[in-house]
Amino acid sequence: MAVKRIGVVGSGIMGSGIAECAAAAGFEVVVRSRAEHTAEAMLAALAKSLDRRVERGKLDAAERDAILGRVRAVTDLGELGDCDLVIESVVEDLDVKRHLFTELDRVAPEHAILATNTSTLPVVELAMHTSRPERVCGIHFFNPAPAMALVEIVRPLTAAEATIEEATAFATACGKTPVVVEDRAGFIVNALLFPYLNAAVRLMEQGVATKEDIDSAMKAGCGFPMGPFELLDLVGLDTSVAILEALYAEQREPALAPAATLRRMVAAELLGRKSGQGFYDYRS
Ligand code: 3HC
Repeated sequence: MAVKRIGVVGSGIMGSGIAECAAAAGFEVVVRSRAEHTAEAMLAALAKSLDRRVERGKLDAAERDAILGRVRAVTDLGELGDCDLVIESVVEDLDVKRHLFTELDRVAPEHAILATNTSTLPVVELAMHTSRPERVCGIHFFNPAPAMALVEIVRPLTAAEATIEEATAFATACGKTPVVVEDRAGFIVNALLFPYLNAAVRLMEQGVATKEDIDSAMKAGCGFPMGPFELLDLVGLDTSVAILEALYAEQREPALAPAATLRRMVAAELLGRKSGQGFYDYRS
């Protein structure tokens, strides 16, 4: 089966980044957002991201316009009725995603792959809320999706080999480096990354060093492009807490329980870049 038309559900940072990757690779993309204003915000974010690439000489204006022309924003889920592959990228909440997969199963064509961009949640649970568990898998992009090379292809127990092969071919067509991974909380990257990010917050809580010095240390000492607090702000503290909770629920390791500071900051709506303030201030 040739994947031609992509549906993306969710128009946040990841949804719009995935839409950009797919449209830049030549796919027709339909992004479903819950409201008109969030759909418009997604198109504006996409245009801004492409404009940045034009300014840097990575893309010419005609290519930018062609990419934008391949992305359509809609609010009705029914508009995904002719997609060959739908990638869900909504909030990291299992109940919300379960409900969405049941709806997607109703609207998407029988041959379509239904994929989730979840960071940690069990993909098999979403598969079992559809009538086509063999056509469900994870396609996990990283943030910022247009810049990060990796895509984890997550194989739940229920997936057919052809589904994994087609999902892998899609990631390759997007110019990404796919790796296939079994359906375990955190897959590869988040299973390794989030214990480290949580430990960094605990180190700060213990007064061992300031967040600025911890960030400097990990950049200068390990060559990481961002320190742990900068990265938590990029990912979003709400998403980070959800990822840690999912890791903790599966492994019951005390080190994986979200650090208290993370929970308090989420309660205070200090979510990182997306809310303008997290460990650092992005409002200026
Ligand atoms: N959208 C599109 N492209 C972007 C971008 C964005 N938001 N931000 C940066 N880029 C591109 C730039 O255009 C540039 O591309 P080019 O080399 O082709 O011109 C390249 O990335 C480098 O960007 P900059 O020079 O502006 O900035 P930096 O060198 O500081 O890089 C960064 C920015 C790519 C974000 C880098 O800091 C980085 O790699 N950080 C680590 C990010 C990371 O670890 N992400 C994974 C998070 S975990 C995750 O996503 C899992 C999820 O489940 C939570």
